Amino acid sequence: MTDAVSKTEKPRLQATRDQLPRTSGIVLHSPRLYDLTVWLAFLGKEHLFRQKVLNLGRIASGESVIDAGCGTGTLAIAAKKRVGAAGTVYGLDASMEMLARAEKKSRRSGVEVLFKRGVAEALPFPDAQFNAVLSTVMLHHLPQKARLQFATEIRRVLKPDGRVLIVDFEGFSDQKRSILSHFHRPHGHVRAQDIVALLAQAGLKTIESGPVGIRDLQFVLATVPCCS
Ligand SMILES: C[S@@+](CC[C@H](N)C(=O)[O-])C[C@H]1O[C@@H](n2cnc3c(N)ncnc32)[C@H](O)[C@@H]1O
Repeated sequence: MTDAVSKTEKPRLQATRDQLPRTSGIVLHSPRLYDLTVWLAFLGKEHLFRQKVLNLGRIASGESVIDAGCGTGTLAIAAKKRVGAAGTVYGLDASMEMLARAEKKSRRSGVEVLFKRGVAEALPFPDAQFNAVLSTVMLHHLPQKARLQFATEIRRVLKPDGRVLIVDFEGFSDQKRSILSHFHRPHGHVRAQDIVALLAQAGLKTIESGPVGIRDLQFVLATVPCCS
């Protein structure tokens, strides 16, 4: 347990400790170090990246959203501000420590995000309930088999007109390195074309993809195909 988990936060998250399905993903346990790394990587302008992600995901007022692999919750909190009181945002992560910090940040910012401990390979949500699933710099934490399980789960929880936005590192072809890519180098990268193929395997149709405009980050936006 890290120092980021306060006494008041422990009991709520503790309740889910024993029920967590196994994951072959790389789960993080140092939320303060993670936030510091992100702050350095974006030179204090992380909020601009998060707003860009919400725009790319077309997140709108009143929507129900999952941020899968939410880490310390910054995107989930921004998403909740965007969907407003009529909308719902779940932040899901396998890490108690990341979630504890996420809850703390959420309380501090005065928005109610529903943080839940669980794994991407078996999303703890019912079928066809969500307008959107977001997942930023998380897919590369999963091995191949788990990626397909995750994509299949995304398809299952999305409403008939739902959409998914995946953002991840493409990998540098020019050997340029950022602090962020250095931090993630041991975990690998995922090419956008592989994300498109993965989502297609799960029955999701890509409608837009390309560079996010920050380092080597790429996005893929896909939907449940019409009438499927
Ligand atoms: C690099 S962080 C990204 C966090 C956040 N999405 C962001 O944009 O800052 C990846 C997160 O995925 C979580 N994670 C890894 N494998 C997972 C799994 N199988 N299920 C749920 N979360 C997972 C890690 O614990 C970590 O918090």
